[in-house]
Amino acid sequence: MGCALSSPGIRSDAAISEEKRRSSLEDGLELPEEAECLGDEEMPELFPLSEAQKELIQESWKVLHKDIARVGIVVFIRLFETHPECKDAFFLFRDIDDLQQLKMNKELQAHGLRVMSFIEKSVARLDEEGKLEYLAFELGRSHCRYKAPPKYYEYIGAQFIQAVQPILKEEWTPEVEKAWESLFKYLAATMRRGFYKEEKMMEASQSLSSRKAGAESTPNKV
Ligand code: HEM
Repeated sequence: MGCALSSPGIRSDAAISEEKRRSSLEDGLELPEEAECLGDEEMPELFPLSEAQKELIQESWKVLHKDIARVGIVVFIRLFETHPECKDAFFLFRDIDDLQQLKMNKELQAHGLRVMSFIEKSVARLDEEGKLEYLAFELGRSHCRYKAPPKYYEYIGAQFIQAVQPILKEEWTPEVEKAWESLFKYLAATMRRGFYKEEKMMEASQSLSSRKAGAESTPNKV
């Protein structure tokens, strides 16, 4: 991924290989076949943003992106305040209870940046709906491997809106808010589809391995 902001030294192996895989897919302009067969779990979401809403997001991002390191931390600290159960998904810092101490935690800071870099990428893909859908779908698949369940994704939009409102001051309008809310809803719903797709694939491969193991342990009757 072209995320200059992420900190590779502290990423999980799963996250690194996911990122490399997606980056190489994106570098070639063609999407893989998989991108065309998205949606065999549930129907894909209709892309919700009007042209005017895309513009509102792009314009506000020009201001917000300067602050993404801080916003990323604030979003997750607020998430843990309002939904402490979300912290359990992060094995690197789930045992830190003091939120002030957590703010200074390098892993939390790096994760906040990863999330915000994904938002940056999404903003840059608002006119390429197929690509954006593919990215969010694959992100959902990787979150299944991180064991971060879909009900939590929807919380991020509200926390983001709370965190960025004061930065935009009077430029924050109900229309800007609605546009961001719609984008986060769309990302969460598409990630959710990816999560369930991956979950199904993992279950299928586990049941295949256990059937194979069962067959191998059955003595040959011939
Ligand atoms: C809109 C919502 C979210 C976005 C855009 C997002 C984005 C990301 C990104 C870009 C990564 C880096 C690795 C990768 O690309 O696969 C990541 C990793 C991860 N995310 Fe999320 N995430 C979201 C919500 C959540 C929530 C709500 C949780 C947990 C409650 C969560 C848990 C994790 C974990 C455990 C990792 C792996 C560890 C790490 O990279 O620090 N994510 N997420």
